Amino acid sequence: MAEIIDGKQVAQDVIAIVTNSSAELKAKGVVPGLAVVMVGEDPASQVYVASKSRKAKECGFHSVQHTLPAETSQGMLLALIAELNADPAIHGILVQLPLPDRIDSGAVIQAIAPDKDVDGFHFINVGKLGTGETATAFVPCTPAGSLLLIERVRGRDLSGLNAVVVGRSNIVGKPMANLLLAANCTVTIAHSRTKDLRALCRTADILVAAVGRPEMVKGDWIKDGATVVDVGINRVPAPEKGDGKSRLVGDVDYKHAAERAGAITPVPGGVGPMTIAMLMANTLVSACRMARIEPPKF
Ligand code: GUN
Repeated sequence: MAEIIDGKQVAQDVIAIVTNSSAELKAKGVVPGLAVVMVGEDPASQVYVASKSRKAKECGFHSVQHTLPAETSQGMLLALIAELNADPAIHGILVQLPLPDRIDSGAVIQAIAPDKDVDGFHFINVGKLGTGETATAFVPCTPAGSLLLIERVRGRDLSGLNAVVVGRSNIVGKPMANLLLAANCTVTIAHSRTKDLRALCRTADILVAAVGRPEMVKGDWIKDGATVVDVGINRVPAPEKGDGKSRLVGDVDYKHAAERAGAITPVPGGVGPMTIAMLMANTLVSACRMARIEPPKF
């Protein structure tokens, strides 16, 4: 049976480093500041945003949350971002996605100052990651956290390992592939048009599933001993738990994959807790960079 990769534990380790460094920065007169912005009342976004703001406070950060009404115009949102860009107490700005359809998300993301873009979505940060300038880039939180989980199992140098990333989103798939490439993996990105996905996945020493389709990656797609990282969080009906009940599953058929994998992340409790931890790490790193203090290593 596979080793279960404990994302909660690794996230706690990251948060401990962030909290210690945050206290050290405070002693030097710098308080890391995170601004989280959301528009509208999407219930899932409300939960995410509240937990990001709460975690920032726990890390000793200056934490501000801007919840704007659903009818907020793009101009008003851009004006708030301009204010936050200019605010020296703010080191990280996160605009929760999705935004209402009326608002051009791309324009909003590109309006965030690249050196406060702790989501790592600005073209400057995407380009830095793509060209290996990771010392000054912000890397998107979910792939950055996934890489830390892989490193816990495989070590920091992944030279020569075959990595397959299933999913080509800008938020997870593409940055994940770039991180694995930078760590010397041979990387393949697979997607909905890939031929014989099963055969391809079976070549993977490291398999990252980020497609958003419940249990799509089957047990017999896993190479013996592979490290499997499941980024998916899908809510599916669970009639066995009672009428109208549901449960969370990943993009991997966990039960069967765990029979072949060397190590695997569970859902929940795998990648999920890492995303928020890496947001705190990115905010701390931003504060360190602005204060010209060496940031900690994660
Ligand atoms: N919505 C879902 N995931 C994310 C994320 O990582 N960042 C932002 N800004 N919004 C999201």
